[in-house]
Amino acid sequence: MDIKSLIRNIPDFPKPGIVFRDITTLLSHPEGLRYTIDTLTQKSIEANFRPDYVVGMESRGFLFGVPLAYQLNAGFIPVRKPGKLPAAVHTIEYDLEYGSDKLEIHQDALSSHHRVLIVDDLMATGGTARATAQLLDKIGCEVLGFAFIIELKELGGRQRLPDLPIITLVEY
Ligand code: PRP
Ligand code: ADE
Repeated sequence: MDIKSLIRNIPDFPKPGIVFRDITTLLSHPEGLRYTIDTLTQKSIEANFRPDYVVGMESRGFLFGVPLAYQLNAGFIPVRKPGKLPAAVHTIEYDLEYGSDKLEIHQDALSSHHRVLIVDDLMATGGTARATAQLLDKIGCEVLGFAFIIELKELGGRQRLPDLPIITLVEY
């Protein structure tokens, strides 16, 4: 199955010069969705990822993180934008191209002995995934690696991530 052909390309969104890789058309395609989750599962097993938990980043990371966690018999833990999680949180501030942003995780969601796989739909600069790994470092749990549906190669996101295995399904 050609996953790339099911991802829609929207030029100049959200601003001029950006080609937005729209996964809504992949999600809405029954065979495409099944193939995507099955392939992510298979690659995770091949990479020897045996996580206790999948951690997924708001919001598109949730869409793939939950079904992957289900397939791997793991739990799912959300990393959210500020002010969304109701209990006590750890917070990390990270740099964007212009300015900064924050991500949060529940303090009691994980313990230091847990093994975690970080999942998102897309790696661009790698800033979101890097910040998530730093958030997990605060807790002291073991990050096994990263899984993305899409990697935007030219942005060099891999270079910003810790030296751990990275699974991707589609590259641009
Ligand atoms: C997108 C995407 C990743 C992140 C990748 O999320 O889903 O989480 O950007 O970019 P980076 O590698 O440069 O950090 P976005 O912040 O647009 O939020 P959304 O998932 O809620 O649309
Ligand atoms: N997040 C960051 N860059 C993106 C892009 N080009 N398409 C979709 N989501 C993104």
